[in-house]
Amino acid sequence: MAREFSTVGVVGLGTMGAGIVEVFARNGIDVLAVEISEPALERGRATLTGSTDRAVAKGKLAAADRDALHERVHFAVGLDALHSVDLVIEAVPEHLDLKQRIFAELDRVCRPETILATNTSSLSVTEISVATTRPNQVIGIHFFNPAPVMKLVEVVRTVVTSPEVVADVEALCARLGKVDVTINDRAGFIANALLFGYLNHAVGMFEAHYATREDIDAAMKLGCGLPMGPLALMDLIGLDTAYEILDTMYRRGGRDRRHAPVPLLKQMVTAGLLGRKSGRGFYTYERPGSPVVVPDEATPVATQAALADGARAITKVGVVGSGTMATGIIEVFAKAGYEVVSVTRGMEKSAKVCEAVKTSLNKGVVRGKLAEADRDAALGRISWSATLDHLADVDLVVEAVVEELSVKKALFASLDEICKPGVVLATTTSSLPVIDVAMATHRPADVVGLHFFNPAPIMPLVEVVRTIRTSPEATATARAVCATLGKTGVVCGDRSGFIVNALLFPYLNDAVKMLEASYSTADDIDHAMKLGCGYPMGPFELLDVVGLDVSLAIQRELYLELREPGFAPAPLLEHLVTAGYLGRKTRRGFRDHSHR
Ligand SMILES: NC(=O)c1ccc[n+]([C@@H]2O[C@H](COP(=O)([O-])OP(=O)(O)OC[C@H]3O[C@@H](n4cnc5c(N)ncnc54)[C@H](O)[C@@H]3O)[C@@H](O)[C@H]2O)c1
Repeated sequence: MAREFSTVGVVGLGTMGAGIVEVFARNGIDVLAVEISEPALERGRATLTGSTDRAVAKGKLAAADRDALHERVHFAVGLDALHSVDLVIEAVPEHLDLKQRIFAELDRVCRPETILATNTSSLSVTEISVATTRPNQVIGIHFFNPAPVMKLVEVVRTVVTSPEVVADVEALCARLGKVDVTINDRAGFIANALLFGYLNHAVGMFEAHYATREDIDAAMKLGCGLPMGPLALMDLIGLDTAYEILDTMYRRGGRDRRHAPVPLLKQMVTAGLLGRKSGRGFYTYERPGSPVVVPDEATPVATQAALADGARAITKVGVVGSGTMATGIIEVFAKAGYEVVSVTRGMEKSAKVCEAVKTSLNKGVVRGKLAEADRDAALGRISWSATLDHLADVDLVVEAVVEELSVKKALFASLDEICKPGVVLATTTSSLPVIDVAMATHRPADVVGLHFFNPAPIMPLVEVVRTIRTSPEATATARAVCATLGKTGVVCGDRSGFIVNALLFPYLNDAVKMLEASYSTADDIDHAMKLGCGYPMGPFELLDVVGLDVSLAIQRELYLELREPGFAPAPLLEHLVTAGYLGRKTRRGFRDHSHR
């Protein structure tokens, strides 16, 4: 028989604690909410009220249910109030000594059978448990932020946690409508172990002025479909909490430099810029605790005029190449009203590309997304050629030929001879240094990267890569062009992986390493990232879609350029590629797709 939990205590009503109180009270469980002082208690009460009021305003909670929910919550200062609860969840700041002190106190105050749980993100549950005389009844219950919304709970058992306690807590999670994954006590568990290296890396990009906060966040949202960008997520987590988690993970998780908190983080914490909870972090918020971002001195001016500032006029665009990307890019430009000159290596190839563009536009017509007249007009704007000479009078060239540096350099040398002055020359390379291509011309100031995502007609993001020789006008032109295509152009430096791949692939590689270490299963890891962090796909689902060979190649490039030991490709990834298990395209990757 599963244990009955009728009253639960929550210690610490900050970012997580207040949300955890709400989760229990929403599910009919009485809660004793405890803080360190009256003012802290009031803040916690206000957070709970704000959250439930918003739920009512959004129609997600009936007013009567809100009132009933509040009646189930009782507030108190000090741990003594917890003498007769069935379970306590601790959510105080991420410091081992503080948590150990609280657990020793809880051990003294609570009934002998009470389960003591910590919501720690990175500290050792085992070390916390030994501060009590009942380590077998101590467990980790790691909720995700915001607790009332995120479905996942990581249940962390130590080597001494009793199996009955694990089973009781798993049953409780189900009652709360949560999905649990049960794992052993390791720094960062599943989700944070995969998340925080990525978050810290993004902060490093921002600190190095590699890209703006808006562009880093937009890149990950639009390029990967994440619910929020990494810097906005840091603000939600709280920079002080994030700092402590990184610091602990660095010390407990093998001193991986990727977890050594970026110095800017410490500075921001010291300066009181803690994220949403203090009203200011990477972004500025309406007031402390508010989710509403307000403009500040770093907010870019988003008017069309500002976007086009210094941009050159573009009416005619050349697209070189005949593959998937070139085909999609031709369609995108023609649909947006540009005159397009497509150049391939022969009229047979041109005919194929033309067919592919027609097929794709026709699909738009069938789906009712494109009028027939607009399709015909778009096709009428494209001319087909097998010689670069026809690019003599275009204003912009987008190159999307094979990903080989020698081929691209030769092409750019030819473009340099053929194209008129002032043309912006763009490469869609995803892994080669743009500066190498630029230096094959005598006009490196006019060369940029325009990294479209596949499929180009659908993906809303373009990375605009500026090299150390690119002029501000060429960058402005590229960005303005992206806007006319209905896409968001994010500007970044010329480094391996640009923004998206540099942040995405090390995370995928880490997931493979976690699987290889047998810490968890592919299914649980995928679950954790989808339900704990709101990712559209788990890492193994995504690897199978992208292709393991492609992923390995990108990861190798990142490793070779940045020499970051943590970026070394996971041996398991290498072995799967060697074995020919490349993902969906070979019907087997991390999963078997032969029956689907
Ligand atoms: N922020 C997140 O996104 C997140 C997600 C999952 C887990 N966690 C974990 O949850 C825990 C709490 O993090 P947070 O972000 O909510 O921190 P927070 O700083 O927002 O809140 C901590 C609260 O604990 C209170 N407190 C401090 N000492 C106390 C004491 N002795 N007795 C009672 N209350 C006390 C503080 O007044 C404060 O309200 C940490 O272990 C953290 O790692 C955080």
